[in-house]
Amino acid sequence: MFQPDFTQTADRQRSGWRDFLVAQDWEHFTDEEHGVWDRLFARQVPYLGSRIVTPFLEGLPQLGLDRPGIPNLDRLNERLAKLTGWHCVSVPGLVPDEIFFAMLADRAFPIGNFIRGADSLDYLEEPDCFHDIFGHVPMLANHHVARLMEALGRLGTEAIEAGIGETIARLYWHTVEFGLAREDGEVKILGAGLASSFGEAHFAIEADVPRPRFTLRDAAQTAYRSDAFQPLYLVSDSLEDVAAALEALDLGGLQRLAG
Ligand SMILES: [Fe+2]
Repeated sequence: MFQPDFTQTADRQRSGWRDFLVAQDWEHFTDEEHGVWDRLFARQVPYLGSRIVTPFLEGLPQLGLDRPGIPNLDRLNERLAKLTGWHCVSVPGLVPDEIFFAMLADRAFPIGNFIRGADSLDYLEEPDCFHDIFGHVPMLANHHVARLMEALGRLGTEAIEAGIGETIARLYWHTVEFGLAREDGEVKILGAGLASSFGEAHFAIEADVPRPRFTLRDAAQTAYRSDAFQPLYLVSDSLEDVAAALEALDLGGLQRLAG
């Protein structure tokens, strides 16, 4: 069980990222918007069933994410905080990178307070609540990922101050968003960008696209695409391996990777 840390709470209040929050106001979502969530969920879960790392599938029922409709963050947070001390916060859209990493450092995960339209299930200009909740949050119930994401938040904050924000962004992109990982010898989906995308989940697993073994150096030196499918997907030896490798990284190590 997670024990509240009041020192961390004080730090959180000083950090300033709370200025970027909005109320989720769950009641404002329409029946049509809840229906979009349900359609996306019903399309995605059967495909992911045998193709995504197990902690993701365990996180869905643990957090009550297998219920219909856009999740109410208050209810979600009751479960998530007990499991790993993480909580979701509502934001109007993308936040600046330094704010994003400051949130992660305090175990707060930002959720875009909108969902894509029913006529554009596969098109996203920026991450919506289906990507942010369905893609990311099940993994936050896992202790390896919970620690890793907090560590990335701290390192990301330091990296931006040190002028190497692009390097931490690449590491994040090639693991948390678009990483693959082996599990019982099979290549599985790890990243939220894949977990929440019908088209790219298929592409990353089935297409004739390079899937080299993950190394920190390759992840740090490989540019990524935010406007198209990735040209390659890095495959970690396991979720635990990649989490440990990233968690052990400090600013000095990141600077060497950047250099
Ligand atoms: Fe994301």
